[in-house]
Parts: sequence; structure tokens; C-alpha cells
Amino acid sequence: MMSLKIATCRPLPEPDVDELLLLDALREVGVDARMTPWREDIDSADATPTIIRSTWDYIHHVEEFLRWAEAASARAPLWNPIDVIRRNVHKSYLLDLQLRGIPVTPTILARRGDLQELAEIVAASAWTDVVIKPAVGAGSFETHRLRVDEPRSSAVFSKLCKERDVLIQPYLPSVEGHGERALVWIDGEFTHAVRKSPRFADGAESVSEALPISSTELALGHAALRDIADRLLYARVDVAPGLDGMPVLMELELIEPSLFLLQNPRALQRLAEGIRRRLHSTVQR
Ligand SMILES: Nc1ncnc2c1ncn2[C@@H]1O[C@H](COP(=O)(O)OP(=O)(O)OP(=O)(O)O)[C@@H](O)[C@H]1O
Ligand SMILES: [Mg+2]
Repeated sequence: MMSLKIATCRPLPEPDVDELLLLDALREVGVDARMTPWREDIDSADATPTIIRSTWDYIHHVEEFLRWAEAASARAPLWNPIDVIRRNVHKSYLLDLQLRGIPVTPTILARRGDLQELAEIVAASAWTDVVIKPAVGAGSFETHRLRVDEPRSSAVFSKLCKERDVLIQPYLPSVEGHGERALVWIDGEFTHAVRKSPRFADGAESVSEALPISSTELALGHAALRDIADRLLYARVDVAPGLDGMPVLMELELIEPSLFLLQNPRALQRLAEGIRRRLHSTVQR
């Protein structure tokens, strides 16, 4: 049997539906995988290859997490690759993608400690209904929908911005209708998509069965992953109709996305097979 560590965290902030599915599928292809909380692996000398999965608390320890990932990657193969992880922790990558011509949710980045008021920041854009969220975030942590003209909004924003870099975006009403679609790539290939219901701070995640997507949504996914798709073991591209109805990139998840493997057995199989093949070529080296 080939060995693999699956990086997770303890306690898990919410259940990981992918976990048991992946463990079983790996066993079937001859991979002995062990769940390993990343914080317990920090000083480890163990050179077992690692796949990052449910490390969902990393957003609260981001420097430590990057140090762990660097060290793990120096000892043994790490998936996704370390340079991909490094570039994906801070959602300013949205602005980089926008500069490369990818349509993204309109986004303003406020740096931690900036003293400007929310209303001042959005004055030029005419947004009245906005979403604010930490630039390093997951699981809808501190993600708030705010009306700019409501008195409490200013305080909610200022408090968050004192602690972290914050993204400010217009609220996209399409998340209630057509919905946000999560497009899953496994081992360089699009496998399936689901619809995610709107979710803000303290809400629970609710996802659909696998659903067909439009060719424009798929094209956006391909564009967002251009140049890197074939280096990725897994990826998730979250898209939603923008203010003009055309899909925009909401998030590019390359670190620890749920992959909704329950919704698509072929994707599960492809992930297990992609891992097995990578481990095999590691052993051969
Ligand atoms: N601009 C927006 N307009 C409407 N809804 C939004 C917007 N930004 C975020 N949301 C809602 O908040 C949720 C969480 O935001 P986002 O996906 O950007 O961050 P996250 O916390 O990293 O996500 P995840 O839950 O996928 O880890 C989205 O799934 C969506 O329901
Ligand atoms: Mg998201």
C-alpha cells in the first residue's frame, strides 16, 4: 500500500462530507490514507506525501499554515502545489485575475487599519447593498450583507477592517435566483457543478445535486484556470451571474474546497486515481 496524509483540522468547524468517501475510494485503489490535523504536523519529520483537504481553521492562523505547507512541501510532494497555495490564501487574487481580463465580482480591497468609512469607500461606485468579507476567509466567516445607508453598517465594517484586510463587493441578487454555482475540476478536467444557496456569517452550507451549467459559466471556469489547470489535482471555481447577468468569478478555491464528491462518483474516482498515479510516480523517482 502507498501512504498518504490527508491534511484536516481539529475540531472541524463543520462536517466534511468528502472525507469518508475519499478514504474509501483511496483504499480501493491501494492508497493507505490517514487524516492528519495540520497543526499537529508542524514539527513532523514525516516525509509522507500530503493532500490538503479540510484545513478549514487555517484562516485564523495563516502565517503558521503557510509555514506548515512550505515545510510539508519541502519534505515530500504536497497537493495542490505550494506556489498555488501561497497565491490563493488572500482574495486579492481576484484583482489580479481581473487585470488579466477575467470577469470577477466587482471588488474593492480595504487594507487592515484603513480608517476610511464604508460610505466613503463605495461613494464612487454607487453601491447601496454590499457584502463585506475578510480577504483571508472561508466558510462565510465574518461575511456580512450590509445596506450602506444603515447606521450600524459603518460600525460593522470598521470593526472588521481594524482586524483584517476586507473585500467590499456589491451584493449580487442572483445568488437568490439562478444561484452561485461551484464548478469542480479534478486532475485538470471539469467534472461537475452544484448550486450553493446564499450563506452569510453563522449560516450553514446547503448545496444541490449535480446540475448542468451554461457554456458561459464553463468558459469562465476555464479562463480562471488557464495556465494552471494541468498542475492542479483539484480546483473549484465559484461563479454567479453578475449585475449585468453575465457570470462573474466569485471565488477561485485552490486550497481546501469541498469538492461535493457525493454528487458525482466519477469525480471521486478520478480524484482517487489522480492521487494514486501521483504517489506511484513519487515512489518511482
Ligand atoms: N458579492 C456577493 N453577493 C451576494 N452574495 C455574496 C457575495 N459575496 C459572498 N456572498 C455570499 O457569501 C458566501 C461566502 O462568500 P465567499 O464564497 O466569497 O467566501 P468564503 O467564506 O470563502 O466561501 P466558502 O463558504 O465557499 O468557503 C457566498 O457563498 C455567497 O452566498
Ligand atoms: Mg465561497
